[in-house]
Amino acid sequence: MTASQSPITSPLNDSDKDITGKALQGTLVDLIDLHLVAKQAHWNVVGRFFRDVHLQLDELVTAARGFADDVAERAAALGVSADGRASTVSKNSGLPTLEQGWHTDREIVAAIVEALGTLIGRLRARIDETDKTDLVSQDLLISIAQELEKSHWMWQAQLTES
Ligand SMILES: [Fe+2]
Repeated sequence: MTASQSPITSPLNDSDKDITGKALQGTLVDLIDLHLVAKQAHWNVVGRFFRDVHLQLDELVTAARGFADDVAERAAALGVSADGRASTVSKNSGLPTLEQGWHTDREIVAAIVEALGTLIGRLRARIDETDKTDLVSQDLLISIAQELEKSHWMWQAQLTES
């Protein structure tokens, strides 16, 4: 089967399908990368708050993986083939890269705050893009943004010195 053939019909016209498919694909790539960044951080965090941050990172991994699955399956339901390959993620993710090696708990929290902030900015742009093309996909993106913004707040709250 060639890449342009779709065995799945779409409820959308070609133009709306194209715009919505790109918004979902871009979100999928960012969410897969968020899962990878959070796991890398989970393994490399050190410091006084190791345990809290280590465990909280796995909650983020689980959330990111669940959202990625929802987004990929929404694309499939529109007749768009989702692309979650490592090479695609590496080429197209908009998230900052976590440097290789150990990081203090504070460095990790700051990196996660930055990653979430970047992802949320890109997600909000895609919420705008899908406003006229597919409200069902937009609704999914909004629900993901709501959860990621809550998570962004909780990570930021840990950066304040007590
Ligand atoms: Fe683990």
